[in-house]
Amino acid sequence: MKITKITQSIEKLLITNKLFLKTLIAFYKPVVKKEVMVANINNSDTILFVGGGSAPCSGILLNELTGANVKIIDNDYNSVVNAQKIIYKYNLKGLTVECCDGKDADYSKYSIIHLALQIDSKQKIVDKIISSSNAKVLVRIPKENVMNIYDHFDYEKYKINNFVEHNNLLNIGKTLAYEK
Ligand SMILES: C[S@@+](CC[C@H](N)C(=O)[O-])C[C@H]1O[C@@H](n2cnc3c(N)ncnc32)[C@H](O)[C@@H]1O
Repeated sequence: MKITKITQSIEKLLITNKLFLKTLIAFYKPVVKKEVMVANINNSDTILFVGGGSAPCSGILLNELTGANVKIIDNDYNSVVNAQKIIYKYNLKGLTVECCDGKDADYSKYSIIHLALQIDSKQKIVDKIISSSNAKVLVRIPKENVMNIYDHFDYEKYKINNFVEHNNLLNIGKTLAYEK
C-alpha cells in the first residue's frame, strides 16, 4: 500500500534525530493514553503490537504507560533493524522487536493485540486474531477524509466493545476495541 511506504520512509528519516523521534512520540502519546484506558491495560498484560515501524512509538508508549512487556512485529526487515537500534540506543526495557508479517503471527499467547493504522491485510489479520486468540484487540481506523488511502477493513464484521476518538494531527480517527 502506498501510504505504508510513505510512512515507512518518513519514520526512517525521523529516527536519525533524537528531537524528531521525541516529537513523533509526543504526537502518539495522547492516542496511546486513551487506548490504554479503553482497553484497561496494566502491567500484567502481554502485548503484541503489529506494524511497529522504524520508530516504534506506540510500542514504546504502551510499555512506558503500563509497565507491560511489549513485543513488536513488522514485516519490513529494515524497519525491524531500525527499531532494534532505537531500543538498544535508548536502553529501553520490556520491548522486543521481530520481523514477522501479521498474517503469519501466533496470536494465542497475548492478552492485548494492537494493530497500527498503516498495516496491510488488516481484515485478514483481524479475522485470524479473532479466530485464534482470546485477546482484547485494538484496531486503529483512519479519519473519514483519508479512509480511502488505507487498506479496506470492515469494522462492523465483529461486535465492537468500546472505542475512543482521537483529535490529533495524525490520520488516526478512532481506535476500536474488540473482545470475545
Ligand atoms: C510506518 S509504521 C507506523 C507505526 C507507528 N510507528 C506506531 O508506532 O504506531 C507501519 C508499519 O507497518 C508495517 N506493516 C504493514 N503491513 C504489515 C503487516 N501485514 N504485518 C506486519 N507489519 C506490517 C510496515 O512495514 C510499517 O513499518
